[in-house]
Amino acid sequence: MTAFDLTGRLAVVTGARRGIGRAMARALAEAGADIIGVSASLEETGSDVAKDVTAAGRHFETIRTDFADPQAVRDLGADLAARERPVDILVNNAGTIRRTPAAQHSDADWELVLQVNLNAQFALTRAVGATMVDRGRGKVIFTASLLSFQGGITVPGYTAAKHGIAGLTKALANEWAPHGVNVNAIAPGYIATDNTQALQDDPARSKAILDRIPAARWGNADDLAGATVFLASDAAAYIHGVLLPVDGGWLGR
Ligand SMILES: NC(=O)c1ccc[n+]([C@@H]2O[C@H](COP(=O)([O-])OP(=O)(O)OC[C@H]3O[C@@H](n4cnc5c(N)ncnc54)[C@H](OP(=O)(O)O)[C@@H]3O)[C@@H](O)[C@H]2O)c1
Repeated sequence: MTAFDLTGRLAVVTGARRGIGRAMARALAEAGADIIGVSASLEETGSDVAKDVTAAGRHFETIRTDFADPQAVRDLGADLAARERPVDILVNNAGTIRRTPAAQHSDADWELVLQVNLNAQFALTRAVGATMVDRGRGKVIFTASLLSFQGGITVPGYTAAKHGIAGLTKALANEWAPHGVNVNAIAPGYIATDNTQALQDDPARSKAILDRIPAARWGNADDLAGATVFLASDAAAYIHGVLLPVDGGWLGR
């Protein structure tokens, strides 16, 4: 048993069906946690993430929730908060992106991204975090972004939401650290997932991005595994309100 061991813990991972969330769920399971996976279109049975978690010998539960629907998010929070088995780790990772220049960025795109990437994250964390505060223990991990620090190009709603996640991480950490709850965020760099497919498909953007990554490669979803397990574990007991970049050195450049 080490400080990184998560045996017996229950983790909720949102956006667990693919990409970064799937890798985070697998990493937490391999460290010992049972997983509740949440996403908009998570298959009832046989999902990739369910297979990963059960292959690691841990229990997996599927919840399908559309974060674009505020009432559905409130219902999810109430469900999780009312359960006999409490949530030990909440990974707020689900997210979407809309790429359109600011002058043409529609209200619909702005509102969708703010709802899915920020409003839903707060509503769910408020509900589950309250149970952690009551118990005097718990871990909340947000998936932030380089665009929690930088402006990005043609993604104003996404950047605003991810800056919001940075502020929310610190605000919740301030309130909940005295109650034994760690609230932190991971800021992934450029990771090859569906979220960045348009950038990967654009030779000019793709090259410009690669040229300024000191590690000289795009990240992959598994690059987030170590930081996720660390922040979810007792090893991170005294870490509060941090945005941990996992970016191949991008921000340090
Ligand atoms: N890739 C990167 O370079 C990068 C960099 C920084 C931050 N991030 C952040 O990392 C997180 C995961 O992104 P990813 O790269 O893994 O992207 P992805 O492959 O597109 O996966 C996104 C996940 O979020 C879920 N999701 C999207 N909209 C949702 C909704 N309305 N309701 C519920 N779930 C929803 C998806 O569910 P379904 O599968 O069911 O559709 C999917 O599981 C996001 O917060 C993203 O902003 C990514």
